[in-house]
Amino acid sequence: MPQSLMGKTALVTGGSRGIGRSIAERLAKEGATVALTYNASKSGAEEVVEAIESADGSAFALHSDLSDVQAIPTLFEQLDRELIRRNGSKALDILVNNAGNSGWGSFRDATPDNWDAIFAVHARAPFFVVQAALSRLSDGGRIINITSGAGARAMSAVPIYSMAKASINNLTHALAQELGPYGITVNAVAPGWVRTDMNAAVRENVDMVKMIEADTALGRFGETSDIAAVVAYLACEESRWVTAQVIEASGGYKL
Ligand SMILES: NC(=O)c1ccc[n+]([C@@H]2O[C@H](COP(=O)([O-])OP(=O)(O)OC[C@H]3O[C@@H](n4cnc5c(N)ncnc54)[C@H](OP(=O)(O)O)[C@@H]3O)[C@@H](O)[C@H]2O)c1
Repeated sequence: MPQSLMGKTALVTGGSRGIGRSIAERLAKEGATVALTYNASKSGAEEVVEAIESADGSAFALHSDLSDVQAIPTLFEQLDRELIRRNGSKALDILVNNAGNSGWGSFRDATPDNWDAIFAVHARAPFFVVQAALSRLSDGGRIINITSGAGARAMSAVPIYSMAKASINNLTHALAQELGPYGITVNAVAPGWVRTDMNAAVRENVDMVKMIEADTALGRFGETSDIAAVVAYLACEESRWVTAQVIEASGGYKL
């Protein structure tokens, strides 16, 4: 099979673990040079780069704490340097806003500090990452935001997280209009329950797992590769006429 992203460049935030790792690996498998960011998991990020390179792909890791908006210009300076070194150009074709900290915390327990912390990573960072990426993004490029089913169907266990994800759905729509004249498509992928560290505690509760699986038409938790497959489609030429969409990839959760 020909690689659909040969010659393209991609930035995946939060590529050191979980869904971001799978996305980075899948885009690299399709031929893209992938820059992946990490915050705390340096060794995880190094492992992902190693896995990609040992499968003959091309990747590199960059540190960035996206809860700090000041870190974003530095991230892009590092990205420019490495892309110019590898490709002779800082052009970026695909941006995947994926990084996210866990958003657990009920309405009653919420504090202004944890509200700010969740919004900083899930809403403010993607907004300013896109703003910084604009001068690098090629015409015909792709922006893919990883949102959540909770963005459209708020979960009372995670009200702040749900609000932050709703704001990303909204931003996806606004950016699709703003960037359409350049042929750039902007879409979001909304996972349901995916087997990652983010919900490891939930998966320890057998009754919760049974309930979630019973509520899912396809009867199981999602795997990170299920989400990466949708991202790979949105990143490739075949999706050129799809923009401003929030695509739920949840196996049919709570239909
Ligand atoms: N898992 C699910 O069921 C599910 C469902 C719906 C939506 N999602 C969304 O999918 C995305 C990925 O989630 P996941 O389940 O893969 O989570 P995960 O396994 O916990 O991984 C989170 C990733 O985000 C990075 N990250 C966290 N805080 C960061 C910060 N302050 N600055 C920079 N990077 C940061 C982590 O980097 P380090 O480890 O290097 O710090 C890691 O690479 C998130 O946007 C999440 O909201 C997940």
